[in-house]
Amino acid sequence: MKNICVIGVGYVGLTTGTCFADMGNKVCAVDISKERVENLRKGVMPIYEPGLKEVAERNIKAERLSFSTSYAEGLKDAEFVFICVGTPEGEDGEADLQYIRAAAQTIAKTMDHPLIVINKSTVPIGTGDLVSQIISENQPKPIPFSVVSCPEFLREGSAIRDFQNPDRTVLCSARPIGMPRIPWRSCICRYVRRSW
Ligand SMILES: NC(=O)c1ccc[n+]([C@@H]2O[C@H](COP(=O)([O-])OP(=O)(O)OC[C@H]3O[C@@H](n4cnc5c(N)ncnc54)[C@H](O)[C@@H]3O)[C@@H](O)[C@H]2O)c1
Repeated sequence: MKNICVIGVGYVGLTTGTCFADMGNKVCAVDISKERVENLRKGVMPIYEPGLKEVAERNIKAERLSFSTSYAEGLKDAEFVFICVGTPEGEDGEADLQYIRAAAQTIAKTMDHPLIVINKSTVPIGTGDLVSQIISENQPKPIPFSVVSCPEFLREGSAIRDFQNPDRTVLCSARPIGMPRIPWRSCICRYVRRSW
């Protein structure tokens, strides 16, 4: 069982958090939208995805899945943080990374123990370095972390099935994890193998 924080409870974040919880992990999903979080706590889904409501409700009841607007609450016991915020197309056609930047800044300011930060949002090449830089520059004091890229490929309408049975998993990181004696590769791969 792993403690996981999911940042951004939209299509990808809600599916990711719900499916990880259903595998037995403890998940706290954080969103800046108070209304979205309050609704989710009442079992009101922000999206329609076949089966998602039932799986979410089962895991909320089992206390494996919770929702919060507080990064401090989400990151409290987390070992892994999945960034799942939106990256809408900007005016120039490039992905707008403002939500990624904001999430990275708040993670940096809030974290009080080593973390593996995994980006699931759709982003351009180089965003892992950007997230690393933002976290390094915004931490009040240096705490080890590693940024991993693991883009999501789920399709709306079959999100749960795609998450549980992916036809591919892309996973990479430029840096060692920075946690003593825990190489990032074996840690994440063990986790992924066990979870998927
Ligand atoms: N929807 C899909 O089918 C799909 C599939 C594959 C990949 N993706 C990618 O995954 C990412 C997320 O997509 P989505 O469809 O889930 O987006 P979404 O717009 O449905 O959800 C994003 C959520 O992030 C929240 N958020 C924004 N800034 C935040 C912050 N700083 N802290 C916490 N929460 C914040 C928003 O309130 C919203 O609830 C995008 O990059 C998208 O391109 C989406």
